[in-house]
Amino acid sequence: MDESDLRQRAAQLRDELRIHNYRYYVLDDPIISDFEYDQLLAELQAIEAGHPDWITPDSPTQRAGSEPAAGFTKVNHPAPILSLANAYDADEARAWLTRIAKLDERVLETDFVVEPKLDGLTVVLQYRDGMFVQGATRGNGEIGEDITANLRTIRAVPLRIPVANEGPEAPAYLVVRGEAFMTIADFAQLNARLEAAGEKTYLNPRNTAAGSLRQLDPKLTASRPLTILCYAIVTGDGQLPGTQWESLEYLKALGFPVPQAVRCEDLESAIKVVEHWTAKRSEIPYELDGMVIKINRFDLAEALGVVGKDPRGSLAFKFPAQELTTRLLDIGVNVGRTGVLTPYAILEPVEIGGVVVRKATLHNFDYIEEKDIRIGDRVRIKRAGDVIPYVIGPIEAARTGEERLFLIPDRCPSCGEAVVNLPGEVAWYCVNTTCPAQLVRNVEHFVSRGAMDIAGMGIKIVEQLVQENLVRDVADIYRLKREDLLQLEGFAEKKADNLLQAIEISKSRPLARLLTALGIRGVGEVVAAELADRYGNLDALGRASKEELAEIDGIGPNIAEAVVDWFERRANQSVLLKLKDSGLWPSEIVGARTRGLGGALEGKTFVVTGTLSGFSRQEIKAYLQAHGGKVTGSVSNRTDYLVAGENPGSKLQKAESLGITILTEPQLRDLVDSS
Ligand code: IVH
Repeated sequence: MDESDLRQRAAQLRDELRIHNYRYYVLDDPIISDFEYDQLLAELQAIEAGHPDWITPDSPTQRAGSEPAAGFTKVNHPAPILSLANAYDADEARAWLTRIAKLDERVLETDFVVEPKLDGLTVVLQYRDGMFVQGATRGNGEIGEDITANLRTIRAVPLRIPVANEGPEAPAYLVVRGEAFMTIADFAQLNARLEAAGEKTYLNPRNTAAGSLRQLDPKLTASRPLTILCYAIVTGDGQLPGTQWESLEYLKALGFPVPQAVRCEDLESAIKVVEHWTAKRSEIPYELDGMVIKINRFDLAEALGVVGKDPRGSLAFKFPAQELTTRLLDIGVNVGRTGVLTPYAILEPVEIGGVVVRKATLHNFDYIEEKDIRIGDRVRIKRAGDVIPYVIGPIEAARTGEERLFLIPDRCPSCGEAVVNLPGEVAWYCVNTTCPAQLVRNVEHFVSRGAMDIAGMGIKIVEQLVQENLVRDVADIYRLKREDLLQLEGFAEKKADNLLQAIEISKSRPLARLLTALGIRGVGEVVAAELADRYGNLDALGRASKEELAEIDGIGPNIAEAVVDWFERRANQSVLLKLKDSGLWPSEIVGARTRGLGGALEGKTFVVTGTLSGFSRQEIKAYLQAHGGKVTGSVSNRTDYLVAGENPGSKLQKAESLGITILTEPQLRDLVDSS
C-alpha cells in the first residue's frame, strides 16, 4: 500500500472501530466478535506506530491509559451540577406533586419520564466541535476534578460525536452529564481476579467505580471494566431539545449510551413503573438506589426552580433500603483454596429483601481494623443484587463496653499450623500443603462443573471424604473403591455406584478441563485452553520454562511463574504420577485450535442470553471464541446456537421462532468436549 492508501486505511479503520463500539455499547447489537474488533484495532495500531503524526485524538487507539498524573486540576462546571430530592414511597411522591402544583398548576396535566437512578460516580463530559475535550467529577457541584485521561479509557464514552455518520450534527459546544459505574457481574469478576492474584478486593461496585476513576494512573482505570450511561445535557450551543424524552433520544442519536427510560402520561403511571422496577430489582445487572421521576417538559421544570441543590422538577424515588443493622455475634475465619484466610461475620439473623442473612463478608483483616469492628458490635450490613452481603461498619454509639477486639488467629483454624503474612500482601496464609480446609476447597474446585464435572460430588461428600482420610489429594478421587464409599454415612450401593461411574466418566475430560481443575493460580478456563493447545499434554507443559510461557498471548510473567512453580512442587508431582497411574492423562494434537483445525465450535455463530452459572458475560465470550466460535449480540438466520441461562430475554423466543438450536450450559460444555 502506498502512503496515501495507508493513511486512508487508518481513517477507515477509525471509522469502523467507532461504529462497532457504538453498536456494542449504545445499541447493544454488535455485529463482529471481540476478537475481530481486536484485530482491526491491532491493524490500526500498527499503522499508527509507523506514522505517529497521523494519530488523531479521537482514534480508538488513544483509549489505552496515558502516564500517571501528579494531581488533578480543578474544573469549573459551566452550570451547577444539581442533586435530587428524595421520596421513599408512593405517598411521598404524590405529596411532591401536590407541592409543586401549588406553584404551577400545569404540572397536573403534564407527562413524566422515569429513569433508573444509577449508583456510580457522576461525571460531566465536555465536547467541542464534536471532540471529547474534558471530563470531570461532580465535586461540590460547582467545581469538580479533571479526570479526562481516566474517562477516555472507558470504551462507552464517545471520543467523537456524532459517532455514527448518519447521526445529527453535533453542536459546537455540548456538555453532558452521566454516571460511570461497574456492572455487578464485572465487579464480581474483578474481585475474583484480584483475589486469585492475592490482591486486596473491593467492597461494592460503586466504591470500585469511584476509586478507579479518582486515582492518578489512567492505566489502572483502563484495566477496570467501567461503563457509563448519560442522562442529561448540562448546556450546549444551538437548538437543544425541549424535553427530557427528546434529550435522551438526541443523546442516543449522537452516540451516547443512555439509560432505559419510560414516558408516563401522569404521576400514577410513573409510580407504577417505579413499583414494577422495584419488584424486578434483582434482575437489573447494575446497582440502582432507586428511580428518578422527571417532569418531561424543561420549560415547566425550570419554572419550578430549585430548593437548595434540588431542582423541584425531578424526584428520586428511592428503593427500600437493603441496608440493615444487626448484632455481630462472632467473627469466623475461612481457609480458601490457596490457603488465604478470610474473616466472615456471624450475625444475629436478619431479613433483607426476602432473604435471611446469617453471615456476611468482612473482606480481610485490615478491613476489620480500619473500620474498628468489634465482636458484639451492632453493625450495619448491606446486600445488593447478587453481591454477597457485607458489613459496612459498626454503630459506635450503640456500644455497651462489652464488645471484644478481634485478633488475627496465629494458627490456621483448620489444621492448627502457624499462619504467615507474605511481604507486600494484605492476606494471611496457611502454608501447610496438607491443610484439610484447603484440601476440601481444592477438591471442591477439582470436581466442579467447569473443571472435571463429577456429578453428585457435592461439598458434603467432599468433606466426608477428606475427613475420613479417603482423599488426601485430588488424585485419590480416582482410587476410591466401592467399599470405601459404603462406609460413609448416607451411602447405599446405588449412590456409591453412581458416584464411581461419574468419576470414571470424568476421566475422559479433555486436557483443558484437567488443567482448570488443578487450580493453578491464574489458570482459568481460557488460559487452560490456550496451554492445552500449545503443549498437548501435562508432560510437555511441565517442561516449559517461565520465559517461554510468559511469551504466550494472555499469559504474562505472573501466570508463567505460577505454572512453573506448581510443577516444581513435590506434592504436585506426586499428584501427577498418581493421576497418570489411574489412567487420567489426556493429550491432544498441539496447535489444533490455533491452526483452525477442530476448534470444537469452528465456524459456528453464537448468541448468549440470560445469566449463566459458570461464566460471566466476558468469560462465556472468551470461552466460545477460545474454541473457535463467533459471538454476536442478536439472533438472526445466521445464528447457529443460542446459549440460554437463567431468566433468558426475548432472544430466546426469537431463536425458538427461527428454529435455532438452544443450548443450556451443560449442553454447551458437552458440545465442546465431544468434538
Ligand atoms: S438527574 C437536575 N438522573 O443521583 C438533574 N440523576 O441523588 C439532577 N443520578 O447527583 C440529576 N441517575 O448523580 C439524574 N437518571 C438519573 C440519575 C441521576 C443517577 C444521580 C445524580 C445525582 C444523584 C442525586
